[in-house]
Amino acid sequence: MEGSLGRTLCILTGASRAFNRSLALLLVSRMAAGSALLINSSNYGTLRTLSAQLGKARPDLQVVCVSINLGGQAGLQRLLEVLPRPPDLQRLLLIHDAGTLGDVSKHIVDFADPEEVNGYWALNVTSTLCLTARILGAFPSSPGLKRTVVNISSLCAVKPTKLWSLYCTGKAARSMMFSVLAEEEPSVRVLSYAPGPLDTEIQGSPQKTKDLEEKQTLNQARFSQILVDWSVYAKKLLDLLEEDTFESGAHIDFFDE
Ligand SMILES: NC(=O)c1ccc[n+]([C@@H]2O[C@H](COP(=O)([O-])OP(=O)(O)OC[C@H]3O[C@@H](n4cnc5c(N)ncnc54)[C@H](OP(=O)(O)O)[C@@H]3O)[C@@H](O)[C@H]2O)c1
Repeated sequence: MEGSLGRTLCILTGASRAFNRSLALLLVSRMAAGSALLINSSNYGTLRTLSAQLGKARPDLQVVCVSINLGGQAGLQRLLEVLPRPPDLQRLLLIHDAGTLGDVSKHIVDFADPEEVNGYWALNVTSTLCLTARILGAFPSSPGLKRTVVNISSLCAVKPTKLWSLYCTGKAARSMMFSVLAEEEPSVRVLSYAPGPLDTEIQGSPQKTKDLEEKQTLNQARFSQILVDWSVYAKKLLDLLEEDTFESGAHIDFFDE
C-alpha cells in the first residue's frame, strides 16, 4: 500500500482539524518517496503540529504548510507562490476540504446583507473555482501525469436542510461546478465526495441552530453512532481515488454502494 499513489503532489485545503488531519496522515502513507504535500488552513500553529507528525511518519516526503485565508485574492496568490514542484511527477491531486457552515441561526428571509452572503461564497465557492483553475493552469496536461480534483461535498448538496441555506447552496453550486469541469476537461479526473456525518466543528453546530427539528436530527446522529469515524471515511476516499473507476464529475456519497 505504501507509495501506491505514485510520485504525487497533493494540495489539501482545510487540513488543520481532526478529520482532515486523519486524511493527511493516510495520504502520506500512500505517496511514493519524493512526493510533496501542501497543507493549508488559516491557523499556522495547528498546521505546524500536523507537519511535524507527517514529517516523522514520512521523512522522504516534502511537506509545505501555508497558513492563509483562502477566501481572499492574496491567499490564493500566496499558495501558488509556495507550491512545491517535485520532479518526475506522476499524479497531481487537489483536494478541496476547507469549508464553513455559515450562520445557521438564520432563515433565508434573514439574509438581507449582500456583504455577509458574498463573504460566504468567497471561501466556499469562489476560492474553490479559482484555486482549481490556477492549479490546473500551473500543471497542464502532459503524458504520464494523472490530474485529479476532489470536491469534499455533503448530502446537503442534494438535500435541502432548514437553516443551512448557505451551506446547502454552496455545496450544490460546487457539485455542479465540478460536473462542468469534468465535461470541459476530459483529461482531468473529477470527484465530488460526500462523507457521512463526521464528528467535527460542523456537526457541533446543532447548538447554534434554532430549528428544533433540525437540532434533534443532528443530536441523534451525534449520539447514536451514525457519525462516521474520520479514518474510515478517509480510507474509503483514498481507495476510490486509487481504484480510479468512478465516473468523472460524479457525486458519490460515503453510503453509496
Ligand atoms: N462534519 C461533517 O459532518 C461533514 C459532513 C459532510 C461534509 N463535510 C465537509 O467536509 C469538509 C471538512 O469539514 P469538517 O467537518 O472537517 O470541518 P471543520 O472541522 O470545520 O474544518 C474546516 C477546515 O477548513 C479550514 N478553513 C476554514 N476557513 C478557512 C479559510 N478562510 N481559509 C482557509 N481554511 C479555512 C479550517 O481551518 P482553520 O479554521 O484553521 O482555518 C479547517 O481546517 C467540509 O468541506 C465540509 O463541508 C463535513
